[in-house]
Amino acid sequence: MITRRTLMAGLTAATTLAMLPRWAYAAAPAEGVDPALVTFIKGLPKTEYHVHLEGTLEAEMKFALAKRNGLNLPFADVAAMKASYQYHDLPSFLAIYYDGMKVLLREQDFYDLAYAYLAKAASQNVIYTEMFFDPQEHLKRGVAMEAVIMGITRARRDAEAKLGIRSQLILCFVRDLTAESAMAALDAALPFKQHLVGVGLDSDEAGHPPEKFAAHFAKARANGLHVTAHCDVDQVDTLKNIRTALVDLKVDRIDHGGNIVQSPELVAIAKQRGMYFTVCPTFSGTLRRGIAQPVDVVRSMLDAGLKVTISSDDPAYMASEYINEVLLRAVSRSKLTRADLAGIARNGFEAAWLPAADKTALLARLEAYLASVA
Ligand code: HPA
Ligand code: ZN
Repeated sequence: MITRRTLMAGLTAATTLAMLPRWAYAAAPAEGVDPALVTFIKGLPKTEYHVHLEGTLEAEMKFALAKRNGLNLPFADVAAMKASYQYHDLPSFLAIYYDGMKVLLREQDFYDLAYAYLAKAASQNVIYTEMFFDPQEHLKRGVAMEAVIMGITRARRDAEAKLGIRSQLILCFVRDLTAESAMAALDAALPFKQHLVGVGLDSDEAGHPPEKFAAHFAKARANGLHVTAHCDVDQVDTLKNIRTALVDLKVDRIDHGGNIVQSPELVAIAKQRGMYFTVCPTFSGTLRRGIAQPVDVVRSMLDAGLKVTISSDDPAYMASEYINEVLLRAVSRSKLTRADLAGIARNGFEAAWLPAADKTALLARLEAYLASVA
């Protein structure tokens, strides 16, 4: 089993671990960060575009939902469940993540899940978010698409009315399930398309390149939806997959995508296309595969002039570190300045899949904040 000690030893030895669970960090997120910058980050109006709702399912809520749904969980308590969140790569993370979401069965469960995330995000000054969900996993358990989408949609409406946080929803295809299963999910979701803003691609990339979903993306586009795709770091064929997503499929956004800095040609294409990247440093903050010196993703993407946004990905499985904590850690590890943070926040609002007037209004709130703290 991977323990904290073996992980830390691996870190010092600069092994090829692609990603680390959050508990591998010894320090608190704000440790060593200038207190003025901590205050600045907390007050900063923010967006978040790379957050899997099922990845915000906290252990406490899993127990509550299991009880409500008459399910038994193989853990004595919350602490034992959290202690089981040990992974060392994407597949080992996904096994835990998919197992965890089995407690989600009814419309109210999806409402509670989404409302809890939106409340947490709003408490950290996220004023606009586009959230992922993985319906194929729920359909497999016999949950109706309507229950999933309408539970989340009801939570989005309530959170906007009560907490002022605006949000939209992105349906992710679970890329390691069949293309037919993904198409069936899309077809089941289209009657509810007014509640969706886009489709995406997540789960295990190995052997499941973006072109597997060309027809799904085309159908989604024909139905007025935006398209994004995970290009997880250090995957086999990562540059080929980034190229396919960027050039052939012409996705509107890339999730993660850090390996792009290893290809000046792809960097140039992304810049020319004005691509935004949703980077999650907790999960994919360092490139290690096949290189002697690990590369910090956020720093190198910023230095390459790419449009970086930052998100929390699956915070419930990453020591419950939400966007403020993620940004605080990014300050330390990627040497982010106040100007970098302002630029990242600005990218977030500019990347929104919203009408231009709405984007302008949100950006004005950011600029007012930046002027007030200048
Ligand atoms: N990558 C791929 N699949 C995922 C992720 C991720 O970051 N989070 C949840 N499913
Ligand atoms: Zn993700």
